[in-house]
Amino acid sequence: MKRIIFLPGLLIICLSLFYGCASTPKGSSPSLSAGKAYYLKECGACHRHIRPEERTASEWPAILERHRIRVSLTPEQFDSLSQYILAGAKKDNSP
Ligand code: HEC
Repeated sequence: MKRIIFLPGLLIICLSLFYGCASTPKGSSPSLSAGKAYYLKECGACHRHIRPEERTASEWPAILERHRIRVSLTPEQFDSLSQYILAGAKKDNSP
């Protein structure tokens, strides 16, 4: 008898834990916000922060490649920084 009461309680705890972790703010994926944090931390050290929209999506890859060794980030951190920049880059066909 005890067991029948215990199980639904456990289920509620599990579900609330699951939904608690699953709720990240809409519109910003976790890796983009991490990328933004790396950008803010690393990219103003030698020159002013040059914002993603100041270069186009086709200009950024070469710039990022030159910068890979300039910043102290792991490859994973550099990837999420690159994703953040490319997500905000200017479109190539806009004036
Ligand atoms: C260790 C110093 C240093 C850091 C840190 C640094 N930069 Fe630079 N950045 C430079 C130098 C030097 C140049 C000029 C030479 C070049 O273009 O590679 C430059 C140039 C640039 C340019 C202009 C390139 C062009 O061709 O228009 C952009 C955009 C840029 N950096 C973005 C960034 C971003 C984004 C970050 C963070 C990932 C960053 N920088 C971090 C040293 C740095």
